[in-house]
Amino acid sequence: MKPSLHEALQIDMKQINREIENIVKYDKDVPRTSVLARSVLQLIRSGGKRLRPMLVIAGSRFGSAMPGRRQLQLAAAAEFIHAASLIHDDIIDRSDLRRGTPSLHTQTGVAKAVHIGNYMSARVVELLSVYTSDHDRFVHDLSSLATAQLCIGEYTQLDHTYDYDLSLTQYLEKTRCKTAQLMATCLRVGALSADAQPETAGRLYRFGESLGMAFQIEDDILDFTATAESLGKPAGSDLRRGQVTLPVLYALTDPVLAPHIRAIQADSSEEQLEYVLQGIRSGDALAQSEQMRRHYLQEAEEAAEPLRGHPAYEQLEVLQCYFGGKTA
Ligand code: FPP
Ligand code: MG
Repeated sequence: MKPSLHEALQIDMKQINREIENIVKYDKDVPRTSVLARSVLQLIRSGGKRLRPMLVIAGSRFGSAMPGRRQLQLAAAAEFIHAASLIHDDIIDRSDLRRGTPSLHTQTGVAKAVHIGNYMSARVVELLSVYTSDHDRFVHDLSSLATAQLCIGEYTQLDHTYDYDLSLTQYLEKTRCKTAQLMATCLRVGALSADAQPETAGRLYRFGESLGMAFQIEDDILDFTATAESLGKPAGSDLRRGQVTLPVLYALTDPVLAPHIRAIQADSSEEQLEYVLQGIRSGDALAQSEQMRRHYLQEAEEAAEPLRGHPAYEQLEVLQCYFGGKTA
């Protein structure tokens, strides 16, 4: 049987999960039995691929220092930031399901979920400032810069809902902010925390950024190709909510389909949506999107190339294989 990503990278997920839970369990201001602590723990335990923590650990293996507790704490912080962003994302997207189970706001109500998400991102800033000394200010890239980019990416996306004149450049920039930068930062911060050379950390950043772009494009493609069961939410959700993703952008160049796409609005009927979904599935848009995904995978490979020969290079090959092999 094919090993899972953490097995292939030889990462102990139990240690990472314990560290993530410790962030809330050892918060002196939040009783463990409180709704807040229990909601965060339930969310953390509900699953997730833990990609971002794995990227921190993989990055740390490019350093000269032995990775240890500090890298686990940074890995846990990365997952906390990501989980907080998903709480907000599900509220914004009005997504009742996450990973096939009711999303947090459907259980707590929107107002409490907003506070839980805010608590989680603020707690990361607090924690990372405790771990950070003057010589490792790069840690703040994770706690503040990456979170700011996530917010900017999401804001841009919201600002362009049902905007069928969105340009490819705008789409790519939004994707970079909302997905690629955090992944890139995870690799870079992991590397710098283990005293990697700045040049190596920079290469890892570019590698992670390209991989992140490919990852989000795949997510966009899956909205058209995957089943509701595997997505954990209804297929076509992005289109329904006015997300002009890459397949939609390409499909808009088809003069026959374009007016039907442009007619999709919040109050469109299921028949209208289904017509457009089928039109996108049967045209060239998905193949063109897949080509763009391949372009970013190629870019990742080129960014990794100068690191060939490094004892940890194999980690990058494993990541390329994992990110590269899915949709095709
Ligand atoms: C998933 O997108 C969402 C993101 C990659 C980032 C969301 C970021 C925010 C809402 C800002 C976060 C704010 C704070 C304070 C942390 P998607 O909807 O394309 O993917 P999905 O299919 O997983 O829902
Ligand atoms: Mg969403």
